[in-house]
Amino acid sequence: MAEVIIVESKDAAGALVAEEIAALVAAKPTAVLGLATGSTPLPVYRALAERRDSMDLSKITGFALDEYVGLPVEHPESYRSVINREVVEPLGLDPDRIHVPNGSLETIEHAGADYEAAIEAAGGIDLQILGIGTTGHIGFNEPGSSFASRTRVKTLTEQTRRDNARFFDSEDDVPMHCITQGLGTIHRARHLVLLAFGEGKAPAIAGAVEGPVTASLPGSALQLHERATVIVDEAAASQLKNADYYRHSYANKPTWQGL
Ligand code: GLP
Repeated sequence: MAEVIIVESKDAAGALVAEEIAALVAAKPTAVLGLATGSTPLPVYRALAERRDSMDLSKITGFALDEYVGLPVEHPESYRSVINREVVEPLGLDPDRIHVPNGSLETIEHAGADYEAAIEAAGGIDLQILGIGTTGHIGFNEPGSSFASRTRVKTLTEQTRRDNARFFDSEDDVPMHCITQGLGTIHRARHLVLLAFGEGKAPAIAGAVEGPVTASLPGSALQLHERATVIVDEAAASQLKNADYYRHSYANKPTWQGL
């Protein structure tokens, strides 16, 4: 099962993950990070930005999880723009080392295979940051996605388009298609760190952590991973049946284990 850590606040979660990333980069300066977009990982990026002077991030490589298809990269809500604004600039990363799937229509037929090849060439992802959608999606792997899937084009559910409409002028402006790392791609990352905050995420978290492993709730793929950490606030943890056990287990966690 995934290790579940229940924290007091988003900032506490951000600080924990930033500490783990700092330790990873200190041990492996060429570490490969899997980056997530959405509002959830922002506290991690903020905490990393605060300590950037004490870290050498010049040799890390990054791979975003997903991108909209057909949205110009210059659009402020393309995930390339979001990653530049929220990760590359505040952390002073080399933009050439930070990859985002290419959602351009001209090259879309081979963009998935190209992305998989780039991840492989970089030596695979060491730590993958994840959020979770209200449909239970990770990356943009909507319910029904194959556990073996690799980076490919998917059609967004109406629910996800509604959820993401807040970033656009209207729901109609949210692209219909996306390109996303597959569940099989995510599974190959060496450490998965999934964050979730707020009551709206409670059902998806309960399903992902304690429900049956099913493609109907893609986040449940974490249960098949050998090293998965789930960091949630009290609200997102509110439907977990074994919350007391997770608290007890974390309170007694051996210090040498890290995250
Ligand atoms: C988006 C992204 C996911 C993200 C999720 C949750 O659609 N593709 O990677 O985890 O939705 O978003 P948020 O963190 O804003 O709740």
